[in-house]
Amino acid sequence: MPVRGSLSWLTCPGTPWPADGRPGELREHVMTVNQATFREALAHVPTAVSVVTTVDVRGEPWGVTVGTLGSLSLAPPLVLFCLDRSSASHDVLTTSARFLINVLGDRQAEVAAWFSNRGGHGFDGHHTTVHGLPAISEALTRLLCVQNGLIRGGDHTIVIGSVENIEIGTGTPLVYYERGYRSLADPPAESVNPLARRVVRTVADAHNRR
Ligand SMILES: Cc1cc2nc3c(=O)[nH]c(=O)nc-3n(C[C@H](O)[C@H](O)[C@H](O)COP(=O)(O)O)c2cc1C
Repeated sequence: MPVRGSLSWLTCPGTPWPADGRPGELREHVMTVNQATFREALAHVPTAVSVVTTVDVRGEPWGVTVGTLGSLSLAPPLVLFCLDRSSASHDVLTTSARFLINVLGDRQAEVAAWFSNRGGHGFDGHHTTVHGLPAISEALTRLLCVQNGLIRGGDHTIVIGSVENIEIGTGTPLVYYERGYRSLADPPAESVNPLARRVVRTVADAHNRR
């Protein structure tokens, strides 16, 4: 089913970018893509896997698996992740002043699966507490964040975190790729992508239509 997707560029006041846009202006480029093709294309983009944890107003621990962690700024140190606005954890995470990003190691696929279950944000007792927040034991890296801003991005909210504390462990990260959990230590797999040619053709067609 064709859907309308949008690509937006946000610029901050005083930022001379993009050249043909006005600073502070939200520019939107609308294009039409097939949702299945979009999902397929993104399934071939490997992502690190993290669990974002926090506590709600009653002090209950929450955690949600995300593959959208990205670095945003070096000075100040900012990161971002994107949260589905229809998820049960959305309101808790977007109203929490502080949260912890736990980057998972390649032996933690079960943890990732647990926190990606709808309604499965409860902890099973195997967590630890770091800076007063629930934390995933043996996470590879932990970033303590203070919420720095929220931006609406389509059906998701972009959550920006100001990084206040960092713990870096050792090990190999867990990677999500082609709808499965992988390790960077795995031997390279033959890429089986039946849609690849079709995707390339779709992109080429879109170019030609402009
Ligand atoms: C590998 C992986 C990465 C995911 N990344 C995200 C993400 O970045 N943002 C998001 O909102 N959901 C993401 N999800 C889905 C959420 O983990 C899942 O929908 C969430 O736990 C929904 O539960 P809730 O509605 O009970 O909060 C991901 C799931 C998996 C398996």
